[in-house]
Amino acid sequence: MDKELTQKCFNEGIERYPFWAERKRELKELLSKIEREVQDLEDAAQNNVEISKETTQKTKAIWCLSGSGSYLEPLISAPSDIPLKSSLWAHGTDKKRLDYCAQLLHDLKNKGGNPIFVYNGVEEQNEVLRKIASKNLGLNKNEFFIPEGNNTKTIDQVMNLTFPKQLKLEKLDIVGVVSHAAHLSRVMRMVEKFRPFPKNVDIMLYPLVFKNSRDEDRFVFSEIMGILGYISRGEISKNAYHYKLKGGANRGGIRVAKINKNDLMDVYNLSNQEDVRAASFNSAKIELKDHEKWFSEKLKDKNTVWLKAVVGQSLAGQIRLDIENKKALIGVSVGSEYRGRGVASILLQSVITRAKKKKIKFIEAFIKSINSPSIGLFKKHGFVYDDDVQISGSPAKRFIYRF
Ligand SMILES: CC(C)(COP(=O)(O)OP(=O)(O)OC[C@H]1O[C@@H](n2cnc3c(N)ncnc32)[C@H](O)[C@@H]1OP(=O)(O)O)[C@@H](O)C(=O)NCCC(=O)NCCS
Repeated sequence: MDKELTQKCFNEGIERYPFWAERKRELKELLSKIEREVQDLEDAAQNNVEISKETTQKTKAIWCLSGSGSYLEPLISAPSDIPLKSSLWAHGTDKKRLDYCAQLLHDLKNKGGNPIFVYNGVEEQNEVLRKIASKNLGLNKNEFFIPEGNNTKTIDQVMNLTFPKQLKLEKLDIVGVVSHAAHLSRVMRMVEKFRPFPKNVDIMLYPLVFKNSRDEDRFVFSEIMGILGYISRGEISKNAYHYKLKGGANRGGIRVAKINKNDLMDVYNLSNQEDVRAASFNSAKIELKDHEKWFSEKLKDKNTVWLKAVVGQSLAGQIRLDIENKKALIGVSVGSEYRGRGVASILLQSVITRAKKKKIKFIEAFIKSINSPSIGLFKKHGFVYDDDVQISGSPAKRFIYRF
């Protein structure tokens, strides 16, 4: 989600809702909060993180939020007088969520967990779930639960959410929630208002994204307009229920996501930290205008894989691969206040996984010989010493990771 879209939501918000036209400053603050939230959700959706043992054991239910599509026949093939036919829901959104939920449930079970699959759509969709559960999703009768209620809108799904009686949700148990990224931002404001489970149950969000960014933008826009409408009528909370994002809990709160254009200044500040400059072969301070040009070129470069580690809302570190002819050059840095807690390790593992998918043959790292933390880091993750070299007058070592 970007600033332009936030501006569009602002303009439309004050035009559509007199409530917001009278509260422009509050609207601006709310939208910038939502922008950050949606960005985090979209980033998390890109991550293929391992689910930790703790999360596996604590997750008691996976709640799949449906749309108005259907599993077997997306509405796109329905007669044209069906009102939702032209909406994004019509394109099999439901199928993607249900397939993902089923996969998640199976993954958790394979790891020794025992969550139940919860789905509460409109009656026709509930019927579809009963039909497809075993054949398409591989769920037996005891593995899914459909709460009572004919839920035509998301808000009905939230209000009417219940869990099987035998499932006694307790403090610190986890309910996983699956839906598309921006939808979850709206859902969590409804959850905050209605609290359809006992106090102190943890929510862990598993966001999904659309295939292309054009659909994503349309979707985000409609979700945010929804949030503004509901808040203006006093029907949902301004704040989201506190949640964890998938992957957050098992990495001490460290998340990995792709670098995007909003990270320009954070990367600039990190790169200019004294010891990050000292570790580099060009140790001079970086000027902002040079950084801006370089940053936007790197972002566009298809041969660059660039990830960040995020702690809370802050950029804690970054890692970059520059790929050329099946080999990649690697660079990593972690903010001094975030060192020694595995940030670089997590970044390195993530980037190696991505490099594998890109069929790279080897990754090379050039490290100043005096930089023992970095040498330790790369060795720990399977890089092997290859040669002593001189770079810009500094003695350095070349390390190689072979696939
Ligand atoms: C090198 C750097 C990226 C490590 O980041 P980090 O998040 O602190 O590293 P991690 O916590 O993931 O540590 C991973 C491993 O690195 C090594 N390491 C990290 N800090 C170390 C230190 N101060 N002394 C020795 N080894 C160290 C260890 O092998 C460690 O594994 P261990 O914890 O099992 O001993 C960070 O110190 C940094 O950004 N330095 C400045 C920039 C830089 O040197 N970049 C690399 C250029 S080649």
